[in-house]
Amino acid sequence: MTIKIGLLGFGTVASGIPFLLKENSEKITAAAKSDFEIAKILVKDDEEKNRLLAAGNDYNFITNIDDIVNDTDIQIVVELMGRIEPAKTFITKALEAGKHVVSANKDLIATHGKEIIALAQEKGVAFYYEAAVAGGIPILRTLANSLTSDKVTRILGVLNGTSNFMMTKMVDEGWTYEAALKTAQELGYAESDPTNDVEGIDAAYKAVILSQFGFGMTIDFDDVSHQGISTITPDDVAVAQELGYVIKLVGDVRETESGISAQVSPTFLPKEHPLSSVNGVMNAVFVESIGIGESMYYGPGAGQKPTATSVVADIVRIGRRLTDANVGKAFNEYNRPAKLADPADVKSGYYFSLNVPDKKGQILRLAQIFNGEDISFSQVLQQRGDGQKAHIVIVTHALSLTQLSNVTAKLNAESDFTLINSFKVLGD
Ligand code: NDP
Ligand code: HSE
Repeated sequence: MTIKIGLLGFGTVASGIPFLLKENSEKITAAAKSDFEIAKILVKDDEEKNRLLAAGNDYNFITNIDDIVNDTDIQIVVELMGRIEPAKTFITKALEAGKHVVSANKDLIATHGKEIIALAQEKGVAFYYEAAVAGGIPILRTLANSLTSDKVTRILGVLNGTSNFMMTKMVDEGWTYEAALKTAQELGYAESDPTNDVEGIDAAYKAVILSQFGFGMTIDFDDVSHQGISTITPDDVAVAQELGYVIKLVGDVRETESGISAQVSPTFLPKEHPLSSVNGVMNAVFVESIGIGESMYYGPGAGQKPTATSVVADIVRIGRRLTDANVGKAFNEYNRPAKLADPADVKSGYYFSLNVPDKKGQILRLAQIFNGEDISFSQVLQQRGDGQKAHIVIVTHALSLTQLSNVTAKLNAESDFTLINSFKVLGD
């Protein structure tokens, strides 16, 4: 049988789908026990349609979503437009019309996934989104299927290809922030609004989805604290190197005694930690669990072909289930009530970078402030001052988010101290 697909959008990822369907057709047909045909592609307007046709794209481009929704021959709708609207409306229409849907839209799934998944279940259709987390790494299906027997306790991940690519270029090759971002955009890694990449928002969306698959808990996007790479200074990078760390934007989802905690933040990773060598557009998801122990899933987190590969895997899975007449199973069946962790239970080492007056007694003042919150130092580094101010770096042993918030307030209350940055440190 030939299964007809309606594509929504024909940008970076979507335009990689025909390549795989053609170049890997034998294996895909064998796996799905069906062929696939891209029957219609929704583009924004006639101008875009004419531009694509003139460029030699021989497809049936349409500009009205109803031409796909009302086409009873189309069984699978693949949404690759991004953003919330009109993607949400179009996916809802497709599901209501009984079509199976594949998407890579983490923004939408992290913020409105609950209602979309419920609608898909109600209609008995599939809604799959493997590409939404870590692009080419098949992490969602791995968590949902291969790790069902294991209990996941923590997921750490380099989850944004754009920011990791930028950090690698800036730190290892001395590129400027602007040049690194421009190249990430040209290579098709960045979101249409790259603020989502560099401010940790894209990784926070992925953390929401990972909490569902890893921990069975659907948390809200607002429950994920997030900070991006834009605040990292060259000094932070240099000090990290001097102390034996690498700074990366890391997503951290873990279950404590009181509940789940999800954060995205620049993080000091010990050089020997496997995540510290994940460079460029590569992503990695490091899973801690009671059975396997530690496992890491590594691969390109963005880019046309890697992402399209994950999208096509979802299409093939739906095709096979259609052939076997057992379509409609939820992508992730692990569900428990969501419980957020008490901040007092969420603990890590922290790095503090501060400017203090360049005169005696400052380390004592700092020791009193940290001691007042029962926080102990792991490393202290003072750089030679300029007579006015001196730069001090403190790495602490594990402290809780409550202690972090208290000590930060106390440091900020000292008018002659400047707290430049504080980042999580793994392993202290
Ligand atoms: P692009 O911006 O390259 O492509 C999206 C396309 O959809 C654009 O051509 C856009 O047109 C078009 N579009 C937007 N609105 C409409 C509309 N109303 N009707 C028809 N077409 C529309 O994005 P990507 O291909 O990079 O990303 C697609 C999805 O995949 C996003 O959800 C993204 O987050 C996700 N993703 C992307 C990855 C990547 O590496 N790029 C990796 C993993 C996931 P226009 O440009 O004119 O707005
Ligand atoms: N913009 C995203 C990234 C795409 O750079 O990781 C993959 O989700």
